[in-house]
Amino acid sequence: MKRCSVSEKAKAPRLSQFCVSLPAALIIVIILSQISYRSASAQDPAVEKGKAVYNGIGACASCHGPEGKGDGVAAAALMPKPRSFASGDFVYDTDGDGKKGSEADLLNIITNGAQKYNGSPLMVGRPDIPEEDRKALVKFIESLKK
Ligand code: HEC
Repeated sequence: MKRCSVSEKAKAPRLSQFCVSLPAALIIVIILSQISYRSASAQDPAVEKGKAVYNGIGACASCHGPEGKGDGVAAAALMPKPRSFASGDFVYDTDGDGKKGSEADLLNIITNGAQKYNGSPLMVGRPDIPEEDRKALVKFIESLKK
């Protein structure tokens, strides 16, 4: 009997604490699940892959900047400067379909460089990057468009 009442007393405040914090805990759980759901749905694997190539072997970030804003460390020395991928303001229509910056256009520039299309020789083609990775770069560049 004594034991029981002691444990009842001890339980009571704990239980009420739990009840008070439960709504807060639920809200936190809901917010966290929303965040992870969003980032999971926003990043398709090709975009993730493209980002890795962009920052890694592609060395694209050195000129185009980590977010494609045309502000990479080497950009100051470039003329013309790379435009921002975020604005989606592309200049090349490499396949002549009347649409600038289509997936095919971006892939052609990445593969062949800009000089072939009367652009800057500084944008060097990277046919050495496997085609699948070049396509992933296109996906990543498109994902930067705001
Ligand atoms: C040495 C600096 C440099 C590096 C490295 C570089 N770029 Fe560029 N890039 C440029 C410049 C400068 C331009 C603008 C060329 C022009 O306007 O003639 C450009 C243009 C482009 C364009 C054309 C966009 C349009 O307007 O149609 C794409 C796409 C592109 N770069 C992607 C990449 C990718 C992907 C990489 C990495 C594999 C990369 N670049 C690496 C300097 C660079």
